Amino acid sequence: MDYFLYQDDALCAETCNVQQLAEQYGTPLYVYSRATLERHWHAFNNAVANHPHLICYAVKANSNIAVLNVLARLGSGFDIVSGGELARVIEAGGDPSKVVFSGVGKTRQEMAEAIELGIYCFNVESAAELEVLNDVAGELGQVAPVSLRINPDVDAGTHPYISTGLKENKFGISMEEAERAFARVQALPNLAVKGVDCHIGSQLTEMQPFLDAMDRMLALIDRLAAQGIDIRHLDVGGGLGVTYEEETPPHPDVYAAALLERLGGRDLKLIFEPGRAIAANAGIFVTQVLALKENTDKRFAIVDGAMNDLIRPALYSAWQNIVPVNKKAGESQCYDIVGPVCETGDFLGKNRELCIESGDLLAVRSSGAYGFVMASNYNSRPKPAEVMVDGAQHFLIREREKRTQLWQGEHLLP
Ligand code: LLP
Repeated sequence: MDYFLYQDDALCAETCNVQQLAEQYGTPLYVYSRATLERHWHAFNNAVANHPHLICYAVKANSNIAVLNVLARLGSGFDIVSGGELARVIEAGGDPSKVVFSGVGKTRQEMAEAIELGIYCFNVESAAELEVLNDVAGELGQVAPVSLRINPDVDAGTHPYISTGLKENKFGISMEEAERAFARVQALPNLAVKGVDCHIGSQLTEMQPFLDAMDRMLALIDRLAAQGIDIRHLDVGGGLGVTYEEETPPHPDVYAAALLERLGGRDLKLIFEPGRAIAANAGIFVTQVLALKENTDKRFAIVDGAMNDLIRPALYSAWQNIVPVNKKAGESQCYDIVGPVCETGDFLGKNRELCIESGDLLAVRSSGAYGFVMASNYNSRPKPAEVMVDGAQHFLIREREKRTQLWQGEHLLP
């Protein structure tokens, strides 16, 4: 459920009229709904309310500091994958003691910063990383809290680019290597075993892959316990899908209940790293139709937003709903919605039935996750502005990039 609804044929973000937002802030424009973000976070948090847990929002999904701040105020933890994300969390008022640090390639400097800030846990992805982390912690005279990311070799049944839990993927430590790696953590003086984690992929719409992964992780935890290695938490990663079109992913209640049932009586804290499930449907991308154009047997709506602003359709052939900001009566036609970038892959949607004319505004739904964060300046296009609505109020949370910012930091030869 989100708060982007029509009132008398005009799309509203909570109670703000989207056309008015576009007029005030310009297009292309990202618009987020605070109430939707909060609702989705609470859906997760309430789903596991009676069990020790931590919701660590995956910052990569949408890292605007206003978004992070809204979640930090709810008491959220954060899943980060870089020093940049850690700095954003701190800037946004997030609590470092609720941060888990994922990612296959952490630098020594990033490790040191995270240790000094006292993060909750490092999600370590390889035996080599363990040695470096031990070394860095030793130099600081500290003990780093460690979870090992295990690759459970489960097929998430999602797009190959966002499937991460198979043997052939670069992520995590294999099940075969897991026990040896945990023994090594115990042997290293500047590391402390805290937990175990996995993340099998993104946009999962079925329970079964999650349950398969859970079973394998619990079996590992039991084997480790038999060897005297005490695992305090199980981090199940993110990956819960959302409805873009007609997908019916499990509700967080159903998802959490199924995991808790598998957990049985084990005394394990559960950590979740949802990104998309919290942010995707809390945002829209608003773009204006520049022109309609007809080639031999195809109609195009050329809009002012492009693949550099929202790359998911181009990169993953992702389908996101495209709706008129103002519904109007009339005959609809079938359009490909394309941007001004010089690439055939520059489309936001294909074969969409719409009744539109030049100057109209369109909203690409479900753009709150992996939208702005994946934007680039390709074709020297300034990045769009971001706005957050809160009831009838709206706030500019990132200014539209200015043209001169495009070459900021560049230098002419003398
Ligand atoms: N934890 C880890 C370790 C991850 O790698 C990810 C996402 C998450 C949590 C959050 O997953 P989520 O709950 O959002 O599914 N750009 C792609 C998605 C890439 C996801 C990468 N990892 C897209 O636009 O579909």
